[in-house]
Amino acid sequence: MALLIKGGEIVTAETRARADIFIEDETITAIGPALSAPLGTEVIDATGRLIFPGFIDPHVHIHLPFMATFAKDNHATASVSGLIGGTTTFIEMVCPSRNEDALEGYSTWKQKAEGHSACDYAFHMAVTRYDEKTEAQLREIVADGTASFKIFLSYKNFFGVTDEEMFQTLKLAASLGVITTAHCENAELVGQLQQLLRAEGKTGPEWHEPSRPEAVEAEGTTRFATFVEQTGATGYVVHLSCGPALRAAVEAKLRGVNLFVESVLPHFLLDKTYAERPGVEGMKHVMSPPLRDKRNQALLWSALKAGIIDTVGTDHCPFDTEQKLLGANAFTQIPNGIPGIEDRVNLMYTYGVKRGGLNIHRFVDALSTRAAKLFGLYPRKGTIAVGSDADLVIYDPEYRGTISAATQHGINDYSGFEGFAIEGRPSVVTVRGKVQVRDGVFVGEPARGRMLRRKPHYAKQEVTHAS
Ligand code: URP
Ligand code: ZN
Ligand code: ZN
Repeated sequence: MALLIKGGEIVTAETRARADIFIEDETITAIGPALSAPLGTEVIDATGRLIFPGFIDPHVHIHLPFMATFAKDNHATASVSGLIGGTTTFIEMVCPSRNEDALEGYSTWKQKAEGHSACDYAFHMAVTRYDEKTEAQLREIVADGTASFKIFLSYKNFFGVTDEEMFQTLKLAASLGVITTAHCENAELVGQLQQLLRAEGKTGPEWHEPSRPEAVEAEGTTRFATFVEQTGATGYVVHLSCGPALRAAVEAKLRGVNLFVESVLPHFLLDKTYAERPGVEGMKHVMSPPLRDKRNQALLWSALKAGIIDTVGTDHCPFDTEQKLLGANAFTQIPNGIPGIEDRVNLMYTYGVKRGGLNIHRFVDALSTRAAKLFGLYPRKGTIAVGSDADLVIYDPEYRGTISAATQHGINDYSGFEGFAIEGRPSVVTVRGKVQVRDGVFVGEPARGRMLRRKPHYAKQEVTHAS
């Protein structure tokens, strides 16, 4: 059925204008003033509302075997809560462990998602071991439409790669023209610092941050950027959390390294005092890189405004209270992760656009458009244009609410952002022209989501000593 959205104000990464949007067969077919509706068209009155392109979360974990347990979500719960919060596409990290077969892992993740997601999705393929067989499998995975890799410099012996494996992965990525995303913390330093702290009897969640200090992340960022530079690859630092790592990334950008930067919702709004709360309350705020000293937040916001931080994701990774208590006797065993897929858009709109001077176009760019461009989804996703998928967020900037575990739609039993006020929320969310959400309620098709197959789109580079 056709859909006409009338009277709203369209806001993209570049433009802002009042216009109607006409949608047929999942795509936008006309944009303009006073469009008329053929018989049988569903009409939505968007007067007083902003209309954003569907938001893209470039960094989520849904199926995730990790730290002796599994992340709590499934694709149904994560996609519905994401949609209620305005996220119409997510990119999930496929993370088989180092001992698992890459292709088997990839099939498992695809099977978990297929037919269960209410919004569209894509994958980043984590490379957790590099050998001849894995290389051949990675080529197959890219040919299947997963045109981005993920590496972990941390989590030694589980997800983590050695420097040699990082080099090989980046060399392959450069030759295939795919982007490589990276978790940048020095695994060896983390391991040694954890041992020292534990030997001193320091077991609580407040010791998580001191075990992975800012310098450890800066070192990882510098090293990743250097490897990207030497291989001619394209790199993307995930969840950058602090000033020293930001400076390392900026240094690399300034010398022309093809490096992009993501920061994630918790690091903009939460600081290390949350993880210093006694007992399980602190454990609920353990993630890596850790929540930092508050002084870092002003730097992250400035870098976001300036476009130095390219994208904002969530690193959505829910573990419930019982799971967090796995680390009751040792902070090293607290499952790392904080949920956020439902809250990213509303919180960044509230604390960025409404209260923090973040330009509304930069907001759209960082939460949607730039991710679409970097990960090969643009202009199908990430904008409002004739020919684009009709993924739209009709946004009510007058809504007032408070985030709470009691009212959230995710599966977890707590929210990392409990008590945060929000000023705005989606009133209607569409996925390829189908209304999936109305005023905080999922009203759509639970299995509407499709896997988005992407083509490598970076210049292909063969690494030679002379290059
Ligand atoms: O603490 C986090 N970030 N958990 C998820 C895994 C990762 O490192 O992204
Ligand atoms: Zn990570
Ligand atoms: Zn992550």
